[in-house]
Amino acid sequence: MQNNRRPEDMERITTQALAEAFIQEQVAAIRAQVGGKKVLLALSGGVDSSVVAALLIRAIGKNLVCVHVNHGLLRKGEPEQVVKVFRDEMDANLVYVDAVDRFLDKLAGVAEPEKKRKIIGAEFIRVFEEEARKQEGVEFLAQGTIYPDILESGPVKAHHNVGGLPDDLKFELVEPLKFLFKDEVRVVGKTLGLPDNMVYRQPFPGPGLGVRCLGAITRDRLEAVRESDAILREEFAKNGLEGKVWQYFTAIPDLKSVGVRGDRRADEWCVIIRAVNTRDAMTATVEPVPFDLLQHITARITSEVAGVNRVLFDLTPKPTGTIEWE
Ligand code: XMP
Repeated sequence: MQNNRRPEDMERITTQALAEAFIQEQVAAIRAQVGGKKVLLALSGGVDSSVVAALLIRAIGKNLVCVHVNHGLLRKGEPEQVVKVFRDEMDANLVYVDAVDRFLDKLAGVAEPEKKRKIIGAEFIRVFEEEARKQEGVEFLAQGTIYPDILESGPVKAHHNVGGLPDDLKFELVEPLKFLFKDEVRVVGKTLGLPDNMVYRQPFPGPGLGVRCLGAITRDRLEAVRESDAILREEFAKNGLEGKVWQYFTAIPDLKSVGVRGDRRADEWCVIIRAVNTRDAMTATVEPVPFDLLQHITARITSEVAGVNRVLFDLTPKPTGTIEWE
């Protein structure tokens, strides 16, 4: 049985000097654990898996095999950034899997949120398993488990859990962040040289845009939610709200309304903006986004995102709303 309690005398990692000491300690521990063997990691590009990747690259270089599964439900620019940061800049051994069609085909016509989540989770494990079988000599699986994951097994899980692999693929786990809190993981990531927008990223659900393209996912609405989310993030960053607001995103319901485009009436989609603050995601309040900024974002979304003619702002705290729409 592995020890799952943070040592009582473990100092909180608040500075780069403390992070450097942690990194050195973990590099030695990882080398002692895995020797010259290969380690596999599902690298989503989220904070936890990215920091694990950077740490293992420091420890064992190309013996870390990172698998990035692009399931088509990531935010704009994310798969490209994973390739740029890890393959181009850190010279990682990175397998990039374009599984977009596979996921979208499986999800076609499925409207029920929990079913969508199950399909995304199961398909992720299947794709990862296929890649794992292609690799020779892998005996270890690295995971971005952090201390809150151990303390509470609630719904807030930002990283992919590949614990559902079949029995013949049971690897020994490497979990170097398992005693760290999120703020400590960020300091370690920053010290390892990861970019700020990766390390200080807002929470993003495992099923990604799949639960923000409401109801049965279609490619046109998925693109609309991805593009509108990119505009929202860009405008929040420009206007000092990035890092201040806990979570902000767009969702697109399966709903068309009539509008005007040029000189004719046109039925198009609407986009919902959600921006909330919370401590623990159990309750949340709505960020009072300045009205002129909302108007500016609305103008951009309705002119730049194909097929969208209306933008709505969600004024609902949690409860009664949840943070996500499904
Ligand atoms: P709700 O919508 O329940 O969200 O108020 C609370 C927090 O959990 C995130 N969330 C998820 N994270 N897989 C995840 O990894 C999921 O299926 C999922 N659903 C919600 C949500 O983004 C918010 O931060």
